[in-house]
Amino acid sequence: MGLFVINRIAELREKIKNFKREGKSVGLVPTMGCLHNGHASLIKASSERCDVTVVSVFVNPVQFGPNEDYDKYPRTLESDKELAEKNGAAIIFAPSVAEMYPGMNKFSDITMVAPPFHMVDMMCGKSRTGHFDGVCTVVSKLFNIVQPDYAFFGMKDIQQLYIIKKMVSDLNFPIEIVPCPLVREESGLALSSRNKYLSEEDREIAVSISKSLFAIQNAVKNGIIDTKKLFDAAITVMDRRVEPEYIEFVDRKTFEPVDTIKKPAIAAVAARVNSVRLIDNILIGE
Ligand code: PAF
Repeated sequence: MGLFVINRIAELREKIKNFKREGKSVGLVPTMGCLHNGHASLIKASSERCDVTVVSVFVNPVQFGPNEDYDKYPRTLESDKELAEKNGAAIIFAPSVAEMYPGMNKFSDITMVAPPFHMVDMMCGKSRTGHFDGVCTVVSKLFNIVQPDYAFFGMKDIQQLYIIKKMVSDLNFPIEIVPCPLVREESGLALSSRNKYLSEEDREIAVSISKSLFAIQNAVKNGIIDTKKLFDAAITVMDRRVEPEYIEFVDRKTFEPVDTIKKPAIAAVAARVNSVRLIDNILIGE
């Protein structure tokens, strides 16, 4: 079919309307670009399930805090097009900030979608105030613009995934959210666009973040269920140059914090390596 690159909402709507008229199912893969093999797996999953896959590429200013990396976030549209097309995408939707937020001078100029407080008063939401409001706002806009049947989200951003699922249910979006497994480098490092910021040495240090999660997983397999002990097991293998922000444990069904691993759960970590903030998580207590 070839890849269409569309920057305008009206043009995208027209194209989608035509696909829907032909009875085609539509999958959306929302991204901020700088696509890597993790994104490739989402695009592949969508193109296997849907007739038409739309990949949105938009570095969303309203999900970045004032001291975060919005300005320097890598923008690589040319290579993104290649990766998207290779994995079966039909459309890249790459709007400008003015197209998505016309007339916005500051965040308080626009209507925001806020997730429930208990879901953001933990993990990434604690240090990134307003981040998930920005995510829910842009994802709602993308859902309304694209009107997909399915939307594909990676399990690396595990808190985001649970928040989006809750939003879709609470706001009655007629969309099925498809979670896709986290993808790791051979070293164990979780794939992330922010890995681009890491030097060779930083990468070696960062590998110990995933090692700390594997240590938790092994400890649970060996019968340790107290999260304080699991926290210690993780810290023991984490390189001393890694600055952990949190290591938290949540129930896999409810996403509520747990003290002991008696049911399927998730261990999640955020940590800085040389000021680059990375996140990772692992499923535990199968
Ligand atoms: O996960 C991301 O890349 C972003 O948070 C998303 C979902 C594309 C919204 O900007």
